[in-house]
Amino acid sequence: MPYRHICIVVLLGNAIFFAASCSETEEYVAEPQSGVDYHSFANTGDYRITHVDMDLTIDFSRKVIVGIATLQIEHLGDGKNPLILDTRDLTIESVQAGNHDQMRAVTFSLSDSIDIRGAALAIDLPATALTVVIHYQTSPAATGLQWLEPQQTAGKQHPFLFTQAQAIHARSFVPLQDTPGIRMTYSATIRTPVELRAVMSANNDPDAEKSGVYTFSMPQPIPSYLLAFAVGDLEFKAMGPRTGVYAEHEVLDAAAAEFADTEAMLEITEEVYGPYRWDRYDLLILPPSFPFGGMENPRLSFITPTVIAGDKSLVSLIAHELAHSWSGNLVTNSSWRDLWLNEGFTTYLTYRIMQFVYGDERYEMEMSLGYADLQTDLDELEDHDELLAIDVRGRDPDDVFSNIPYEKGALLLYEIEQKIGRDAFDQFLLDYFNEFAFQSITTEDFLAYLDRTLLITHPEELDVDRIREWIFEPGIPAGAPHPQSDAFTQIDTIRQDWLKGTEAAEGIDTSEWTYHQWKHFLDGMPDRLSREQLEDLDQAFRLTASTNNEIAFSWLRIAIRNDYEPAYDRLEDFLVSIGRNKFLMPLYKDMMAAGKADMADRIFQKAMPGYHPLSVKRNSQIIYPE
Ligand code: BES
Ligand code: ZN
Repeated sequence: MPYRHICIVVLLGNAIFFAASCSETEEYVAEPQSGVDYHSFANTGDYRITHVDMDLTIDFSRKVIVGIATLQIEHLGDGKNPLILDTRDLTIESVQAGNHDQMRAVTFSLSDSIDIRGAALAIDLPATALTVVIHYQTSPAATGLQWLEPQQTAGKQHPFLFTQAQAIHARSFVPLQDTPGIRMTYSATIRTPVELRAVMSANNDPDAEKSGVYTFSMPQPIPSYLLAFAVGDLEFKAMGPRTGVYAEHEVLDAAAAEFADTEAMLEITEEVYGPYRWDRYDLLILPPSFPFGGMENPRLSFITPTVIAGDKSLVSLIAHELAHSWSGNLVTNSSWRDLWLNEGFTTYLTYRIMQFVYGDERYEMEMSLGYADLQTDLDELEDHDELLAIDVRGRDPDDVFSNIPYEKGALLLYEIEQKIGRDAFDQFLLDYFNEFAFQSITTEDFLAYLDRTLLITHPEELDVDRIREWIFEPGIPAGAPHPQSDAFTQIDTIRQDWLKGTEAAEGIDTSEWTYHQWKHFLDGMPDRLSREQLEDLDQAFRLTASTNNEIAFSWLRIAIRNDYEPAYDRLEDFLVSIGRNKFLMPLYKDMMAAGKADMADRIFQKAMPGYHPLSVKRNSQIIYPE
């Protein structure tokens, strides 16, 4: 077994529960249990939250939210245990419980911060109480919030705040059962400075007057990691009847043009995989410090501005976040061990949506790029991190993040599709989304469903042992499909010729190259290039000045490996102005590997005030290893 493990018994009020945290003292034995969320304190067998109402006052000057959370509770057990909620860095001021207008103060205890899960809030609940009201405040260090100075926004005049709850950060801005196994509806009032607008993963009203008080409701039940809001100087522009963009004025038009195909993506996905069940689908364009590419917050995906390339080359991100409206938001992973059910299905759907909207060549190129990402991770990760159903006990889900649940998950589905045919597989997915709509499911639920569907209808083509190998073993099974693209084969030849010196960069006709080909061209370069070769590329193609962030990123990695210092100003600028962790981590890792720890430290210290807490944490681990 790759790591060791000990169970600590935590006593809290009259509740006893187990904390699965790592230690070096006791041999790790048992397998993780299916359906158990090792990242939540919540006693979901005793109580279930069915609805949360939030009243949140946003205080930009203190970087705190003053909140009132009103929870509706369903009793499942004998009522003897306290209600245990997840929190992190919250100050709990008071707790009341009761029914309707018969509320009274009740006793509660907040544990110390126990481990990566944060602190458990135990509330002594009268047997008849169906409602709990918690008055609390967040901390300026809340892991699920990023507070931006006006300087970090496009308009530079107003501050900005956004949440990022996945995986276990909702608890840092509202006390609740912070587990994807529980779904709840919600309502909210957000109080902001009068010149700003609040938006949520709910029923946004683009015509709402800027009043400083915004109300929302989310009638579809969602898991806590999809709770989201943002506050800023936001405007709205429609893209289609059901789609539009929220962004700062400075980026609104560019975003609406870049993502103009969103409505078409929505329509085709509905046609193939069943109705879109969330009413509207809008995008919120965040400032560049947003730590992810995108986040599938229901009705309102949160999107990095770094994909606004001017030529729609990076819009698969939108297809991805939209696809989550089926795989993830409708059918949800039951715990973080099952993340591949969200991300693998979504990655598969993303490729399909891209093919529907942009054709076969783009589909093949995007799949090939995904396959290359998968190979990189398979080369680098330890075996136990290559399973689809990964053992995340005692680990922060943020630290386990890789391409495995995405690309290995998608490749498994692609293999099934290849074996049984597209029509049969599309029908299967449509049925799957209907069967488990608005439910949270485990890997084992998926396997049981396969058992009563495809494994019966396609016994010749499919083999349960092979599917189990995909899910529970490292690597990819022998004979797995290998997506390829003719458009890339041509690039391979061109790259080979250039490397041999038979062709100068100037002589390469790149006029028809798409971003995908550029990325393939650069990522396929050998580790070492000479100074002459680097200059030849840079002079011919102006790579240091590329305005496509993905191309710039691939080029900067080459520059670091080869000590090409004409690109260093751009590198610094890139790292200071962008907070997307997918770019930051490889660049800082490359600097460390190239013996440039001083440079990494200097740039990181300069950039850090603008980074999200997650990016600060993950990149500190790289630059300052213990
Ligand atoms: N849901 C994820 C982001 C996420 C995953 C946040 C796990 C926290 C924990 C989102 O849908 C996503 O996958 N984003 C990718 C997009 C890409 C694969 C197209 C990203 O941000 O890079
Ligand atoms: Zn995703």
